[in-house]
Amino acid sequence: MHIESLRLHNFRNYGRLELPLDERLNFFVGENAQGKTNLLEALFYAATGRSFRTRNDGELVRWGQDGFEIAVRVVHKRGAEQLHLLYRQNPKEKLYSSNGLQLSRSEYLGRFYPVLFTPEDLAIVKGSPQQRRKFFDEQISKIYPLYEAELKRFSRILRQRNRLLRQGEGVVSPELESWNEQLAVLGARIMQRRLFALRRLSLLSRLTHRRLTGGEETLVLRYRAAIPLQQGAGEAELKEGILAALREQARQEARLGQTLVGPHRDDIEFLINGKSAHLFASQGQQRTLVLALKLAEIEYIRGESGEFPLLLLDDVFSELDARRRKLLVESIEGKVQTMVTATAAERFALFRRSGRLFAITRGEVVPGEPYS
Ligand SMILES: Nc1ncnc2c1ncn2[C@@H]1O[C@H](COP(=O)(O)OP(=O)(O)OP(=O)(O)O)[C@@H](O)[C@H]1O
Ligand SMILES: [Mg+2]
Repeated sequence: MHIESLRLHNFRNYGRLELPLDERLNFFVGENAQGKTNLLEALFYAATGRSFRTRNDGELVRWGQDGFEIAVRVVHKRGAEQLHLLYRQNPKEKLYSSNGLQLSRSEYLGRFYPVLFTPEDLAIVKGSPQQRRKFFDEQISKIYPLYEAELKRFSRILRQRNRLLRQGEGVVSPELESWNEQLAVLGARIMQRRLFALRRLSLLSRLTHRRLTGGEETLVLRYRAAIPLQQGAGEAELKEGILAALREQARQEARLGQTLVGPHRDDIEFLINGKSAHLFASQGQQRTLVLALKLAEIEYIRGESGEFPLLLLDDVFSELDARRRKLLVESIEGKVQTMVTATAAERFALFRRSGRLFAITRGEVVPGEPYS
């Protein structure tokens, strides 16, 4: 699939924008605060109905206006589709449509998938276990929309169980029994889905990472669970594992007033040449690792959904040395439709074969000069 054109009205610092896009590569060059990330945000929003920067849609409305519109023309294998989103504050409404036909949010979603890299994603490596879990959970939700509801149900159970633990004031309450069962059933389901996604992503990212490092580094992904993990354990075994660990930790949990076992305590470990990336990776290595994960995600999405996603790379080149930049360019060129932003045009001299260059200045996008 690819996006043929993007139209914006009153989105962030864009008043009106009509932008034809290249089927392969699009480069957006501009100084700071001109609207580069805003443009990627609009495309991400067209795919997911939400921003990656805020939960508050009101922030996306151009200052002093009442609402925004985003329209994209998507070309799928099966034909073209005109997608349209409208958000208004007074009266509050959010409308989704395809080819003029109004759709509910859930009917609208899944028309195309974005794979986004932003510098904030470096938190996947250096940040907290929670940030890594979030990254993996998002991957899974893209493919299995039901997963989001499972996660929500799990947090509800967790909250109620924690409340009960705190009320017990150090004594193990018999009421916990039924919560343990629910926690274990749903916890096992979540772990199962994560382990499955991790196996796929681990394989794919080992390859993409090897390509990005010119074969010099080997990446391994490992799931670190709060319970012992047997090779090839199914949902039933995971559930038993959680129940057993809960029994073991009962006293400790009662004393601390919190649930110590379950997927909310798990982590994903990245090893580069056998060393923990969390502890030892350099800036460039962190960036390379995250990029490898994102490139793996492209293959993952294609495998699961049958279509290539849209690749959005925000400020991807800083901190990569010339060789890693070149290897990155080689591994995306010509494969998926890609939008890349940067503050200086010479970064794009790398892309020689194809693509369009645009210059962004204060919410205006104009074709840049062709480069040789
Ligand atoms: N709702 C809004 N209405 C109008 N302008 C906005 C709105 N939200 C953000 N902006 C403006 O958009 C500008 C550009 O934001 P954007 O994040 O796209 O910059 P950028 O080109 O990616 O810059 P950088 O290179 O620093 O990342 C911001 O400086 C801000 O002033
Ligand atoms: Mg930016």
